[in-house]
Amino acid sequence: MNQHTRLAPIPFIDLAAQRRRLGARIDEALARVTAHCQFILGPEVGALEAELAAFCGARHAVSCASGTDALLLALMAKGIGPGDAVICPAFTFCATAEAPALLGATPVLADVEAATFNLDLDSFERAIATARRLGLRPGAVIPVDLFGLPADHDSIAEVAEEHGLFVLDDAAQAFGATYKGRRLGTLAHATATSFFPAKPLGCYGDGGAVFTDDDGLAETIRSLRVHGQGADKYDNARIGITGRLDTIQAAVLIEKLKIFPEEIEARQRIAQRYAEGLGEVVIVPRVPDVSTSVWAQYTIRLAPGAREGFSAALEREGIPTAVYYAKPLHRQTAYRHYPLADGGLPVSERLAEEVVSLPMHPYLDAPTQDRIIAAVRRALGA
Ligand SMILES: Cc1ncc(COP(=O)(O)O)c(C=O)c1O
Repeated sequence: MNQHTRLAPIPFIDLAAQRRRLGARIDEALARVTAHCQFILGPEVGALEAELAAFCGARHAVSCASGTDALLLALMAKGIGPGDAVICPAFTFCATAEAPALLGATPVLADVEAATFNLDLDSFERAIATARRLGLRPGAVIPVDLFGLPADHDSIAEVAEEHGLFVLDDAAQAFGATYKGRRLGTLAHATATSFFPAKPLGCYGDGGAVFTDDDGLAETIRSLRVHGQGADKYDNARIGITGRLDTIQAAVLIEKLKIFPEEIEARQRIAQRYAEGLGEVVIVPRVPDVSTSVWAQYTIRLAPGAREGFSAALEREGIPTAVYYAKPLHRQTAYRHYPLADGGLPVSERLAEEVVSLPMHPYLDAPTQDRIIAAVRRALGA
């Protein structure tokens, strides 16, 4: 394609389109906060928490400063620390394993399934055995709902219960998705999510939340996010962090949550169109019958070695791609010394060479998506 026929670049995630739709409403919500000046734990924070809990059916939603803090706070509340093994999939964003590592616990890395990109049950069980063999106490598992698709929560819960593990669902990419008719937020002892701007439900900065049905856990997390404060403001009951969600971010999220169900439907429609347009030329993601995805990413798989040329071909047509994740955790400098489940992590290693994500957001219109589908087919020689 030459200079004259070059089409406008397509955004990978179009936050500006949503901003145009919501602009005035969010500006007004922000103006209310700047007028009342309760920037820390203002009324919008409690209102958002009630709405988030109602949205996913959890008894408690405790908002916090990021998805990473959500993971950290839940593990801190359970007293996870040195000597504990926390089983994490290796094919994920670093924060999944970073949270237990920050607490001095040992992330034990397990493999994922190629079909769903989520925790592989056999590898999970092997990781528990590995932890015991190394003299660690298996304390928790953090299944990840990667790219917006729920992990196999019932099977994970069964194994976790048998071994007495705390289950912390890392739903940073998947808030709003369902498993067996229930929204994430209720499928583990605690669920962490992120409101990073590019997430399906994102704010205008960093933010996160923990969901749980456990009253005691919720209370401890509320204390931990404010330095471990106790009933008496001058007597801190435990060591905590500054982990609150800003009132301004809560105000943004209240407005965004109103259109979130509609946006989830749009994402699902767009994913369906991708599957129809690309399903016979490349490996597209398939959603198990029991689940729905919120499509944080639309990730296809190419033959190993094909990705660089593929992405370059799309780039020439103004179509961005991204690679989540080019390196599984055990190949990253900070994580390579952590133990791996017996049997190794062959699927994570293979996926890291095969995956590439296409533009995905609720405002991707049909003509633009057709342009992407046609370019993908051309790049694959289909
Ligand atoms: C799977 C996963 N876990 C945790 C996080 C951490 O969330 P945050 O960036 O809000 O700290 C992310 C965010 O990118 C994520 O994708």
